[in-house]
Amino acid sequence: MIAVTAKRVLPRGFAAAWTPGVIFRQASSLPLYSFPKEVKIVEVGPRDGLQNEKAVVPTDVKIQLINMLSDSGLKVIEATSFVSPKWVPQMADHVTVMQGIKKFPNIKYPVLTPNLTGFQAAVKCGVEEVAIFGAASELFSKKNINCTIDESLQRFKEVTDAAKEANIPVRGYVSCVLGCPYEGKISPSKVAEVALKMFSMGCYEISLGDTIGVGTPGSMRDMLTAVLDVVPAKSLAVHCHDTYGQALANILVALQMGVQVVDSSIAGLGGCPYAQGAAGNVATEDVVYMLHGLGINTGIDLKKLTEAGAYICKALGRKSNSKVAQAISKL
Ligand code: HMG
Ligand code: MG
Repeated sequence: MIAVTAKRVLPRGFAAAWTPGVIFRQASSLPLYSFPKEVKIVEVGPRDGLQNEKAVVPTDVKIQLINMLSDSGLKVIEATSFVSPKWVPQMADHVTVMQGIKKFPNIKYPVLTPNLTGFQAAVKCGVEEVAIFGAASELFSKKNINCTIDESLQRFKEVTDAAKEANIPVRGYVSCVLGCPYEGKISPSKVAEVALKMFSMGCYEISLGDTIGVGTPGSMRDMLTAVLDVVPAKSLAVHCHDTYGQALANILVALQMGVQVVDSSIAGLGGCPYAQGAAGNVATEDVVYMLHGLGINTGIDLKKLTEAGAYICKALGRKSNSKVAQAISKL
């Protein structure tokens, strides 16, 4: 039995057998809500994970990592960024990475393209899907891509127009959806406004980024409530960095609210060069373990995934941030 103190509002399903002030329920009869049957994982480790590394990660290590991730059953692997090498030197080898990886027909290898220059370079080397990345915070937009939100949307429109002509799908990121390193709190309505603009210009999916990992299940719920008014759940993804250790809980809330796409990073690598102190993304191994525990299909082989994680951690000379990988390595 569990006891829940009842103050004002009882959540749905909690009405049974209660004495004033306390509700008693069998743990097994707690409301299960509905979860999606399948969840798509977007692996962002090779890009978000490695863009922030201090030491230059050799190109052949990146290629080997992506090949191992392809072998694990992942269907989407964000491979690199076509951004300015002066801004993000770690992604300067984007052409060699894209030309060096083994590409499988059932796996997508999208790349980040902040503007038409990046888009054209990506297409030239055979990229078949791109992502544009905006923000719900003016200051973050300025620091990250050197323009205001409005200016960024104009640049993105050039990319989505060119992509439509080339028949290339575009994913759209909105950063700082649960907080900004420069502005602090960000209103859910601002997130919804930017998400809708990117969705309306043709992004097939909007990934909502908790860039600095400050969100909680409560703020995730409030933000998603606003966004779901303007973008359907089937076109949303969540992208949680795990600075405050809330990422899995936040993802669980998002799944309960109908989101079926989760971004994550092998071994929990990552961070954003323009968001000081932000930890890596939630670890893919941890998300997959949770989803499989919920009976949700991902098509991913957890063992192969942990091998890819062990490979990159060894190459970087560090311990995995994935709790699941740490536990499995001790078995
Ligand atoms: P800018 O300096 O304002 O650009 O940078 P510009 O148009 O004035 O051009 C300046 C120079 O950059 C020129 O070269 C251009 O050719 C070159 P120069 O004449 O000086 O030799 N240039 C480029 N080179 C390569 N690729 C390009 C490109 N565009 C211009 N695409 C720019 C604007 C957007 C380029 C720059 O700010 C930039 O590259 N920013 C990238 C920032 C970044 O990658 N941040 C990390 C990814 S976002 C993230 O991690 C968040 C996310 O994970 C979600 C979340 O967690 O919230 C997605
Ligand atoms: Mg990120």
